[in-house]
Amino acid sequence: MQYTLKEVVNHLKTQGFVFQGSEIYGGLANSWDFGPLGIELERNLKNLWWQHFIAKSKYNVGLDSSILMNNNVWKASGHLGNFADPLLDCKKCKMRMRADKLIEDNYPKLNCGGWSNEQLSAFITEKNISCPNCGAHDFTDIRQFELMFKTNQGVIEDEKSVVYLRPETAQGIFVNFKNVQRSLRKKLPFGIGQIGKSFRNEITPENFIFRTREFEQMELEFFYDSKEKIDWFEYWVQEVTKFLTLINLKAENYLFREHDASELAHYAKRTIDIEYKFPFGTGELWGIADRGDYDLRRHSEVSKQDLTYLNQETNEKILPHVIEPSVGVGRLMLAVLYDAYHIEKVSDNETRVVLKLSPLLAPYQIAVIPLSKQLNKAAYQLYEELLMRFQCIYDKTGNIGKRYRRQDAIGTPFCVTFDFESATDQKVTVRNRDTMQQERVAIANLENYFIAV
Ligand code: GAP
Repeated sequence: MQYTLKEVVNHLKTQGFVFQGSEIYGGLANSWDFGPLGIELERNLKNLWWQHFIAKSKYNVGLDSSILMNNNVWKASGHLGNFADPLLDCKKCKMRMRADKLIEDNYPKLNCGGWSNEQLSAFITEKNISCPNCGAHDFTDIRQFELMFKTNQGVIEDEKSVVYLRPETAQGIFVNFKNVQRSLRKKLPFGIGQIGKSFRNEITPENFIFRTREFEQMELEFFYDSKEKIDWFEYWVQEVTKFLTLINLKAENYLFREHDASELAHYAKRTIDIEYKFPFGTGELWGIADRGDYDLRRHSEVSKQDLTYLNQETNEKILPHVIEPSVGVGRLMLAVLYDAYHIEKVSDNETRVVLKLSPLLAPYQIAVIPLSKQLNKAAYQLYEELLMRFQCIYDKTGNIGKRYRRQDAIGTPFCVTFDFESATDQKVTVRNRDTMQQERVAIANLENYFIAV
């Protein structure tokens, strides 16, 4: 990959996509705020996901469940107890790190996802692995670090008032399975999707918005009868791939990786990760997991509620199985932005930074540009008309070349320039961001023109 994370991040900060969280107070480690352009891109991405996986799906419906949930949810899901990272400290420099990452950084071909603390510890000792910070070989014992954020509900802060911020949106879907199925009289197969915030007290938040402690997920839980012959896992892998094509993510920049048995999460029978080639290395972008009947079974056991589904044709009660495609909004945005970022030579002594974002995602689809101050009134009127149909920006300062570059830098696919002839011939110049080609288009045809391209 050509560009470093640092240069892409600098560009995104200066252009108003992302700011450091609490910046005027020196920030809060790894918290980021989406600025005016970032939030437009984010909303476009979330809307497209919603359209693709929910609104236009033959099978799926949406949900918006609470962040705070009954603690038994996390007992049933396995998050209380299992959802912890193996941590150790270097006794010399006091650096804290994940034991599994320490091994994988030294032995990149190894995957220690399913290893016990004893196995991790024995391996570190046997291979005499050193602290990446100070080189010492003296570590504390490994202990589990709870990844869920804890808070208290109500006025008294004691053990009984402890609640957790959800670490995934999925559980809100499982506990509502029966509500949704009954109230909408849904027949299998069907899915429930939601977009919402999740929180994980990650020990090593890293790489800008790739891994943060507060993040948003877009998750679909697709319920089906496991006796069906259809390969629903493959179906959802295909749907995710179609979505990545829809948002113009370059296929050569991502790959599909099947988890081996030792890496599978405690709930999963099979998982394929779509991994993106980020500038800091290849990393998980989108996970597609076969969760079997793990979640509904566990919630039936712990809640003592009947979560089975009655097949009215066969009169048989079954516990549906689940396929789950799950992705982080910020992580997907980072891939989209990195894919789109280009520095191009325009002439012998000029380069331009251009974000080649899909028009479906770009913060603005059209910039309206008056060629001269005298044309402001008519150009502004055109901007107001286009604004009713498209996401537009009005850009009236600087010379025309500067304005084109500014729009390239924020990914606006089209600039519409209103010049002195426009008032008489009722045509404007439309400039294409990627080809930089210009053409005259009748104002009356503009809407159809943009819908067609
Ligand atoms: N419900 C399943 C689940 O949450 P996961 O692999 O832990 O599975 C799913 O997370 C997706 O959520 C990941 O593929 C990633 O895109 C995103 N994600 C997970 N942890 C994240 C974090 N700390 N920061 C940003 N995104 C994260």
